[in-house]
Order: sequence, then C-alpha cells, then structure tokens
Amino acid sequence: MTQEANEGPVVMVTGGSSGLGKVIARTFLDAGFRVVIVGRNQERLDAAKREWGKLEQVKTAVADVSTHAGAANAVAVTNEHFGRLDALVNCVGSSDRGLVENLTHQRLDELIQQNVHTALLCSVAALPLLEVSSGAIVNIGSLAGKVGARYLGGYCVAKHALSGLTQQMRLELKPRGVHVALVSPGPIRRDDAGSRYTAQVDETLPADAAKPGGGTSVKGIAPEKVAAAVLDAVRRRRPDVVMPGYLRLLIAIGHLSPRIGDWLLRKLTSSKERKP
Ligand SMILES: NC(=O)c1ccc[n+]([C@@H]2O[C@H](COP(=O)([O-])OP(=O)(O)OC[C@H]3O[C@@H](n4cnc5c(N)ncnc54)[C@H](OP(=O)(O)O)[C@@H]3O)[C@@H](O)[C@H]2O)c1
Repeated sequence: MTQEANEGPVVMVTGGSSGLGKVIARTFLDAGFRVVIVGRNQERLDAAKREWGKLEQVKTAVADVSTHAGAANAVAVTNEHFGRLDALVNCVGSSDRGLVENLTHQRLDELIQQNVHTALLCSVAALPLLEVSSGAIVNIGSLAGKVGARYLGGYCVAKHALSGLTQQMRLELKPRGVHVALVSPGPIRRDDAGSRYTAQVDETLPADAAKPGGGTSVKGIAPEKVAAAVLDAVRRRRPDVVMPGYLRLLIAIGHLSPRIGDWLLRKLTSSKERKP
C-alpha cells in the first residue's frame, strides 16, 4: 500500500455500485476519503472500482445489508481494510408505485426492509467505529419521506419511517459524538428515470405515475449535486437537507395548514387523477 492509501478519512457507502450511491462514493473519493462500497453483486462493485482507477483507496464489500449478518460483515470488511470509519452513507433504498388501497403488507415489509432496516442495521454495526472517530451517518431519504404524495405505493411509508429513525438517532447519538443527517432529494436525474416504474403502473394509476416522483413537476436534480450535499452534511454536520431547498417551504406550509399543503401537493405532483 502507498502512504497516500494509508491516510485520510474513511467512508462506507451502501448501494455504492450503482445510481446515486456510486456518485456519492466517487464524490467522497475525490474529496480525499478512502472508500468502501457495499452491494450484493461483486461484479457491479468491481466495475465501479475499476472505473475510478484509485484501486488502493477503494475497497468493496459484498453484503446484503438488509440482514444483521450482512451489515456486520460490511463494517468488518471496512475495519479490516482501513482500521477506521469516519462516515457511513446509508444509500440502499428503493421506490414504489401503486395506490395505498392495493398495498399489501408483504410489499410494505419489503420496502421497509430496503429503506429502513438497511440503514438501522448498518448504523448500529458501525457505531463503535464511528464513536472512536466522532464520525457521521447520512441516511438518504426522499421528499416522499417528508410529504405523502400520491401513487407511490409503500415508498412514502418507508421513507417517513427513515426520517423518524434519523431524527431519533441524531438526538440519541449526539452525546456520543456521532452526527446523524438526513438528505431528502426529489427526483434524481438518470438515464432510465422515465422507464424504471412502467411495469408497476397499471390501469389503476394515471400513466404519468411512472415518471420520476410519480409524475411530479419538480425538476430532476443532478446526482452530483445530491452527492455534494451529502459530503457537506458530513463536513458541516448539517442535520437535515431537503433538495431542492425551496420545497422546505411547502413542507412547512403543509404542517401549518394541511389543507393548503394538500392543495400544493396536488398541484406539484401527478397532473391527472386516478381513473375511476
Ligand atoms: N432515484 C431517485 O430519483 C431518488 C430520489 C430520491 C431518493 N432516492 C434514494 O436514493 C437511494 C439510491 O437510489 P437509486 O435509485 O440511485 O438506487 P439504485 O440505482 O437502484 O441502486 C441501488 C444500489 O443498492 C444496492 N443494493 C440494493 N439492495 C441492497 C442490499 N440489500 N444490500 C446491499 N446493497 C444493496 C444495489 O446493488 P446490488 O443490487 O448489486 O446489491 C445498488 O448498488 C435510495 O435510497 C432511494 O430511495 C432516489
């Protein structure tokens, strides 16, 4: 190992082989962090690592972090390679489409496992290392964790649970020197953004529910911008970031006046009502 590869803070990014997690990992790498990316597929992890070139500063951990053993293994791999952990980014998560009346408890369990268990299990496993470094945890939420938009199946429930978990963790872990942040982006730009959920949009939903955010008029955000906000949340110990920032006003209005909040949400989300 070179001396350079032995220095610098360490971040573990779950879901770091694809999508937003991959961009976050790259952003931390460029900022001087040594990086561990976690996913369930070794080839995808290796492909990401090869793309970045800095082979000594990037390690991979194959683990299903929705299980206790997987989360513990990912943290153990990080410790074996680098002997420390300064930041944990819990990015594993997945969205959904559908009406609440068609949401099964099995599907809701899956979404909670993907979006909540993963963050909880990794955070608990990483806590001893993060206490030593007075480090930070960033959970990747969503606007769907701040408001309950239509047609998003069980995603709003799962991301709201993650929002609550994050605030509780922040309050409980502050005295132990560990910062916990939530970054809640709106739709993120990606090549397959318009087609990812087509299969889940049936005749019960308007066609534009397949679009990012379930058909919201909020413009897609560059993943690099979200990744920069995650890095900033670690460095400046920001507690709660909403992207785009102006939507914090909508969220606040919804708390002060739920009637106006609902009206604004209808305006900003899917333009069509479900078919009768
Ligand atoms: N995309 C958006 O517009 C958007 C908007 C707001 C918030 N978000 C949030 O941003 C995060 C990333 O979303 P994305 O769409 O960029 O994700 P994505 O492209 O679907 O990537 C998911 C990543 O997580 C890994 N993964 C999935 N389940 C895992 C598990 N159980 N254990 C370990 N790794 C696992 C995947 O790799 P393997 O499959 O190989 O394991 C992959 O690297 C999510 O939390 C999402 O809710 C996304």
